[in-house]
Amino acid sequence: MCGIVGYTGPNPALSRVIEGLRRLEYRGYDSAGVALATKVGEKLVVEKKAGKLANLEGTLTSDYSNAHGGIGHTRWATHGGPTDVNAHPHLDESGKLAVIHNGIIENYIELKEELERRGHKFKSETDTESVAHLLSEEFKISGDLATAMRSVCSRLRGSFTLLAIHSDRPDLIVGARRNSPLVVGVGTGENFLASDVSAFISHTKRALELGQDQVVQVTPEKVVVTDLSGAAITPKEYEITWDAKAAERGGFKHFMLKEIFEQPKAVADTLLGRFPSSDSIELKELENLALDCNRILILACGTAYHAGLIGKYAIEEWVQIPVDVELASEFRYRKPVLTSKTLVITISQSGETMDTLMALRHAESLGAQTLSICNTIGSTIPRESDAVLYTHAGPEIAVASTKALLTQVVVLHLVALYIANRSGSLSKSRIKELISELLELPNKIEEILETVEPLREMTRGYKDSNSVLFLGRHVGFPAALEGALKLKELAYMHAEGFAGGELKHGPIALIDKGTPVIAILPPASSEIAEKMRSNIQEVRARGANVIAIADPSHNLDIPNLIRIPECEELLQPLLSIVPLQVFAYEMAVARGNDVDQPRNLAKSVTVE
Ligand code: G6P
Repeated sequence: MCGIVGYTGPNPALSRVIEGLRRLEYRGYDSAGVALATKVGEKLVVEKKAGKLANLEGTLTSDYSNAHGGIGHTRWATHGGPTDVNAHPHLDESGKLAVIHNGIIENYIELKEELERRGHKFKSETDTESVAHLLSEEFKISGDLATAMRSVCSRLRGSFTLLAIHSDRPDLIVGARRNSPLVVGVGTGENFLASDVSAFISHTKRALELGQDQVVQVTPEKVVVTDLSGAAITPKEYEITWDAKAAERGGFKHFMLKEIFEQPKAVADTLLGRFPSSDSIELKELENLALDCNRILILACGTAYHAGLIGKYAIEEWVQIPVDVELASEFRYRKPVLTSKTLVITISQSGETMDTLMALRHAESLGAQTLSICNTIGSTIPRESDAVLYTHAGPEIAVASTKALLTQVVVLHLVALYIANRSGSLSKSRIKELISELLELPNKIEEILETVEPLREMTRGYKDSNSVLFLGRHVGFPAALEGALKLKELAYMHAEGFAGGELKHGPIALIDKGTPVIAILPPASSEIAEKMRSNIQEVRARGANVIAIADPSHNLDIPNLIRIPECEELLQPLLSIVPLQVFAYEMAVARGNDVDQPRNLAKSVTVE
């Protein structure tokens, strides 16, 4: 939440910062702003505007090409509404020091009262402005922005990524982080600070990881990292493995559509190199974990939570150990019973979701072993886990998650097969069969994507519906939950996913003449296939307009039938969810919504 960019180097800072903000806008789009150091010791130039980045760009009257140091922010509002005044950067009274922030300063009220008592005047309703005033006081004492940042951070409670600039040192950007993301982009004669690497990927592929409670100073030639006491730290460097093109729309109308169409490749890349032979699985990353666990607990939020729910079915069936899946935000405030024999798996595309991070720490404090499934190299959650398995989905920019989900489920399947292979809970021949099924997935997803046009056309016919219900059983149930979540996020329609068996216990009362119901059928050979077909009859008898998702093993008399290829029942969500994503996408387009930046949402939820 909130995108942050800082630049220092020989190029005009404004264009570098705006380019970075454009790539980070998925993190929040309530307002945007920049602060630029145009002249040594003079007031900074600050431009900020409520609304999307385009609003800010529309109001810029100069390219400020004489500014070579600058910071920029795109906001997801927490404290204070999305207005021009509350937009970041926030300034001290001299106008020479500016701050941008991602996170929440929990003790901002007491800080503000203290600062007001000392005569500071506040302009905004944000928690961030206190930091600008505190920094200003500390800067007056030490004359050094990094020293000031260290002492201010020691006084802050909550989570933050902060960047600050002072016109006395226009080539210096100082950053700090606690529980919110910040990476350094190391260029040639220029350096960057940003919430994630996409902000600077077109200029450098060298990045530095920053740890908890660290302060960083960047000038065009140098990066210095310290802890809050000022002790030097050597940050870990890593290379970004994807290029700028991967973070662009590449001819697609929206990032989401592009990412839906990237799913065959994302799944193939995630499977790549995992099968040294047709009946064995290699997950070197798990070698240091004691896999004699007697329970698995999966923790995640949003779509990643649904990935966990889907994975549970395969793990329990193949590995024969109990799996619980819990919303990270709920888990972290419980007193759960975990032992060293509990393997906790956190799933997070960004690796920065605050609730998942806090749940991970909670699980670690209770003695569990932790494994994270993540798509973002070097992010906080994998760094704090005992082991990590990266998905290879490439950058996911659209706020609504698509390819990340499929790859997360695939990784859970790999983990299940790996443990089953070691424990002998599955026969070699069954493992071979399942590996072959997994390897066929990219082609099957491709097949679905080649035939989505009729589905898109059909979707438009439902654009004025008030509500859409999704029905599934067994592993089709979490797929139904995901279908409903996608529709809510994108189309702003009431949508709910139900387990077919629960229908008669309440949800059937929602069915009225014409209510669209999307029903996901398991393969006809499944023991629940008949039950699901009965559920379809029950809702049709009450006037529902059923759209069925089924493989060719079913002979169905339903006008709205979406075909998916046949596959192993436990893997079916990896296919059935694809048309659900397309349905939500098309509905959002038909209703005139902003697909990539749905209202009120942000991709990476780094506040509680
Ligand atoms: C937000 C996004 C969802 C995502 C969830 C978890 O709510 O809008 O698409 O599934 O966060 O994000 P993570 O990065 O932890 O997977």
